[in-house]
Amino acid sequence: MNNIGNAWIKDMMVMGLKDLFIGKNKKYKEHMDAYSMIQAKSVPKHVAIIMDGNGRWAKKHQLPRIAGHRQGVEALRDIIQTTSQLGISYLSLYAFSTENWKRPKTEVKALMSLLVEFLQKEIYELHKNNVKIFMLGDIDGLPADTKAEVLRAMEMTKENKGLQVNIAINYGSRFEMIKAVKYIIQDISNGNITIEDINEELFSQHLDTKGIPDPDLLIRTSGEYRLSNFLLYQLAYTELVFTEKEVLWPDFTKEKYLETILQYQNRTRRYGGIDDREDD
Ligand code: FPP
Repeated sequence: MNNIGNAWIKDMMVMGLKDLFIGKNKKYKEHMDAYSMIQAKSVPKHVAIIMDGNGRWAKKHQLPRIAGHRQGVEALRDIIQTTSQLGISYLSLYAFSTENWKRPKTEVKALMSLLVEFLQKEIYELHKNNVKIFMLGDIDGLPADTKAEVLRAMEMTKENKGLQVNIAINYGSRFEMIKAVKYIIQDISNGNITIEDINEELFSQHLDTKGIPDPDLLIRTSGEYRLSNFLLYQLAYTELVFTEKEVLWPDFTKEKYLETILQYQNRTRRYGGIDDREDD
C-alpha cells in the first residue's frame, strides 16, 4: 500500500469506527474519492500558497485581526498534513513579506509570536513526520527570539527527507532578485565568473529557493488576484489558482485544498510550447 493509502488507514483509525457508521462515512467516502482521483494523476511537486484573508475573517467574526491570524495557523496545520500525505515534495508559505513591516506594531509583534508559538508547538510532530523546515527571506532582519526559533527548527529538521516546508518570512521577491544580482556582480569582480556564465540556472542558484524546483501550483485565497512580491521569478510557468472571495485563508479546508489540486491536475501545461495531445 502506498503512502496515501496508509494515511487513509491512519485517518480511519483516528475517526474511529463509531464515526464511520453514524454519518461521517459519506464525508469520508468523498475524501477517499478525492484522494484516489488525485493519486491517479501526477501530484504537483511544489505548491506555493499566499494565505490571504485572515484580517477579513476576523472582521467577519467580529474579532481582533490577530484572532484571524491565529485561526489561519489552525488552517495551516491541516494543509501541511494533507500536503505531506499526498506525497508533495515542497510547500512554500507566504507568512510575512518585506512590506508587512508597515502594519501596526502590535500586529507585527503578534505575527512574529505566532510563528514562534507554531514552531515551538509543532516542531516535534513535524520532525516525527520527517518534515523539513526551511526559510525563505532575510532571517537576519527578524527579532532575536523569532530568529533563534527559526534557526532551531531548521537545524532540528535539516536531515529530514519528507515534505519540505518553506516559510517565507521577511521575504520579498524583488529584494531576493536584487540580492542575486549583487552576488553575481561580486563574483564577476572577483574573477570567479564572466558575464557569459550568466544564465537562468546561475541566476536561480543565487535565489533563496536555490535547489528547489519552481512551484507547479500557486494558490491565493480570498479572491485577490495579485502575486504581492512572492516568488516572481520562480512563478514564470506556475499554474495559478485564486479562490473565490468568500474563501478566506482560515476557511481553506482540507476539502477545498483537494479540490484545488484536482483543478490543477485538469489544466494543460504547455511551458510556451504546444499541447502534445493536440492534433496538427
Ligand atoms: C494575510 O492576511 C496573511 C498574513 C499577512 C499572514 C499569514 C500568517 C499566518 C497564517 C500565520 C503565521 C504563519 C505561520 C507560518 C505560523 P491579511 O492579514 O492580509 O488579511 P486581510 O487581507 O483580510 O486583511
